[in-house]
Amino acid sequence: MHLRSAILVLVSLVPTNALTKFNFEVSAEYDLFNQGTAVRYFEDLFYEPQEGQKKPSLNATQLEEVEALRHQAYANPVLALAGAQVLYMFGWFRSTGELIWENILSSAELFERSIYVSDCKPEHSYEVWHDNACDIRWTHAILLYHWLAQTDTTSQQQAYQKKAQELLEGIKRVQKYEPVSSAWTSPGHVNFNSIIFAGKPSRPIWATAELPIGKWLEEHHHIFKAELQAILNEPGDVYGQLMKIDPSREHLATPGGWDTLRIVRYHNWFEVFCQLAPVTCELIKTRPEINECKFMNVNYVRLNPGTHLKPHYGNGPRLSAHLSVIAPEPMKAGLTVADQKRLWVEGEAILFDDTYPHMVSHWGSQPRYVILVWFCHPCDGGNAHNQTCPTV
Ligand SMILES: *[C@@H]1O[C@H](CO)[C@@H](O)[C@H](O)[C@H]1NC(C)=O
Ligand SMILES: *[C@@H]1O[C@H](CO)[C@@H](O)[C@H](O)[C@H]1NC(C)=O
Repeated sequence: MHLRSAILVLVSLVPTNALTKFNFEVSAEYDLFNQGTAVRYFEDLFYEPQEGQKKPSLNATQLEEVEALRHQAYANPVLALAGAQVLYMFGWFRSTGELIWENILSSAELFERSIYVSDCKPEHSYEVWHDNACDIRWTHAILLYHWLAQTDTTSQQQAYQKKAQELLEGIKRVQKYEPVSSAWTSPGHVNFNSIIFAGKPSRPIWATAELPIGKWLEEHHHIFKAELQAILNEPGDVYGQLMKIDPSREHLATPGGWDTLRIVRYHNWFEVFCQLAPVTCELIKTRPEINECKFMNVNYVRLNPGTHLKPHYGNGPRLSAHLSVIAPEPMKAGLTVADQKRLWVEGEAILFDDTYPHMVSHWGSQPRYVILVWFCHPCDGGNAHNQTCPTV
């Protein structure tokens, strides 16, 4: 029997009352629909302000609803993807910052199951692969099993590693990825820019001296720092007020641990910020890597002590830069991109490809501020970014 019809039979055997007890709409056939409704439902709860609780996060009652979904997702294949995604996005941390280990493991297992309940065989046509969002299912299963293998200290560790490796071998059989996937020798190597820029250099971390923007950021560090320090020194938490005018929504970090202050996003300058830090904005406006780029973005990002960012993938075709503007504890805070680690050293820039899996930790006691820049990939052919594509 064809896989798809097998699933439909399976789904029709699911008692419909099992699917009706959720507070979001559920389809008996279409798992992408369920992913959409479930994520929207929990997302609203996740960001809704709640007295006395670090946000964004779910409270204990809301996590019980996630728990109900987790159980149903094992029983009903059509909920596997919804469960995987909700557990990954909203069930990773408690509001206290504690990890919910069983949710992370279930998310890995359910992303993997969602591969088999949808038409996501590597041999299928790219249209089917694309329409079923197969890359999300595969890459997240790989990401999470790899993370579990790196962080688990029990006898399960090798089983997770084996899963990650098997899934990696699977995704490498996808025809569209074949020209580049031979370079993916570890689960951490899977990335999207190497597919977009096939045949061009792909690296998790680019040497700062290799791209002009790296040196430029470092040369102007003292100016950025003086203007940022002046804002931080203003009485009445002006920095916090600025963030509130334009709040960011992201699910990646320990609740309350990571926040962004927009400078410019997709060419929309945050004018109130630019009035307070005029030279910073004027300087950024001189760089073609940023301003000639459709998907440009520049933020201040504060990382509070004790914060961790779960492993995640960014979106191509951009590259990212961090300039450590205020980073007083270089030995205690850093990021991992694929299998490479970097610490934030004040005044230094890190250029990285955020389409590789990456994550962040801060073990120190003082906040760290970086300027985060999304700029054009040097091998991008569609924007006048004025960089040279390296040959190796
Ligand atoms: C969680 O939030 C909901 C809705 O805001 C509320 O009804 C519920 O009592 C809260 N639960 C806890 C444990 O705070
Ligand atoms: C473009 O790059 C060249 C070489 O790095 C540099 O001399 C020139 O000033 C740049 N142009 C702009 C508009 O930044």
